[in-house]
Amino acid sequence: MTIKDFNFAGKKAIVRVDFNVPLNEAGVITDDTRIRGALPTLKHILEQGGALIIMSHMGKPKGKVNPKLSLGQIKDAVAEALGAPVQFAPDCAKAKEQADALKPGEVLLLENLRYYPEEEGKPVGVEKGTPEYDEAKKAMKESQKEFAKTLASYADCYVMDAFGTAHRKHASTAVIADYFDADHKMLGFLMEKEVQAVDNVLSNIKRPFVAIMGGSKVSSKIGIIENLLGKVDRLILCGGMTYTFSKAHGGEIGDSIVELDKLDVALGVEELAKKNGVELVLGTDSVCCTGYDFATFSVKPGAEIKTFPATAIEAGWDGLDAGPESREKFAKAIEGAKTILWNGPAGCFECEEFTAGSRAVGEAVAKATAEGAFSLVGGGDSVACVHKFGLEDKVSYISTGGGALLEAIEGKVLPGVAAIKG
Ligand code: 3PG
Repeated sequence: MTIKDFNFAGKKAIVRVDFNVPLNEAGVITDDTRIRGALPTLKHILEQGGALIIMSHMGKPKGKVNPKLSLGQIKDAVAEALGAPVQFAPDCAKAKEQADALKPGEVLLLENLRYYPEEEGKPVGVEKGTPEYDEAKKAMKESQKEFAKTLASYADCYVMDAFGTAHRKHASTAVIADYFDADHKMLGFLMEKEVQAVDNVLSNIKRPFVAIMGGSKVSSKIGIIENLLGKVDRLILCGGMTYTFSKAHGGEIGDSIVELDKLDVALGVEELAKKNGVELVLGTDSVCCTGYDFATFSVKPGAEIKTFPATAIEAGWDGLDAGPESREKFAKAIEGAKTILWNGPAGCFECEEFTAGSRAVGEAVAKATAEGAFSLVGGGDSVACVHKFGLEDKVSYISTGGGALLEAIEGKVLPGVAAIKG
């Protein structure tokens, strides 16, 4: 079943969205890309005369109620985006009465699904590897089914539109689909669009294919990096992971972020790139600071800023952005690309003093796109960069997925897609 073919008139649709949006200290949304992304699906159902039950997670409350992660905080923003009043169910597992009372055109937003451990289906309070764990896991799988069944009981049909969470096999993203017939479950417009964008990159690679991977840790990206080394022509590795590579070559990195236990992984990446004939592009210089406050994204009073070679950073200095030579290298590597994937910033872009690296990458991506490349940007921070630098209309596609996008690019079947398509 596709969302275009289903007749929602008089039906209640339970829609899994990813409204895991960033909030500031005051609980105000700082980037509503994910809410805007789900609007075509939500509006379509309402316009057809359906009623909506919207469900999502926010953050990682680990199976416990945490008011800081309440979806109640975004209820008004959702109502404004939808242009319709939104009711709120403060307990997602006890919303049957509210769901039953919904009339066509009405909207109910459920509280954070992850207040219940059943959503993720991981046993709580039992150590992994202990004999009790396997038993607890089995029991949890059963409660997860019950939880999914409860959610399913609210509606006549199920729409999966949470691309950002489609790589999770959770109650609301996958298990729930078992409680709907094939002609009453479907992917939403956002899912269709995201899957198509990934398909554009994977099945229709126009070369050169250049990937830009940023972020602080090699370890969290190693799967996708190794995978990309089998696909791309050039791979730019930037951001904090630069220093693990510098260190692996015996460089001095001052107080920069480093994964000392991953130096061999970094050297392995370089080996694999050589073997596969991929040009690996790493930063050669860094904008460093003597006092950066990571909590407030600001330079501490009196702290100094200076550029060092990325392998000769003095003690007391922390590498926070790509230097001018690196920026030029990155821009040159992106020039002429015909397919581009960008995930992760090139520096601490949240702070004005350290935006230049990410800006250089963003502008080079925009330029290549104007010259005919298909550019796909994904991951919260790179998407934030695109917005910050006003490049929204200058890249081909902005994904709402971070981890989900990377797994899809790796060629993995996302559980959220498999649950619908089989
Ligand atoms: C994300 O922000 O990438 C998605 O909302 C998934 O969140 P998770 O990594 O906590 O599952």
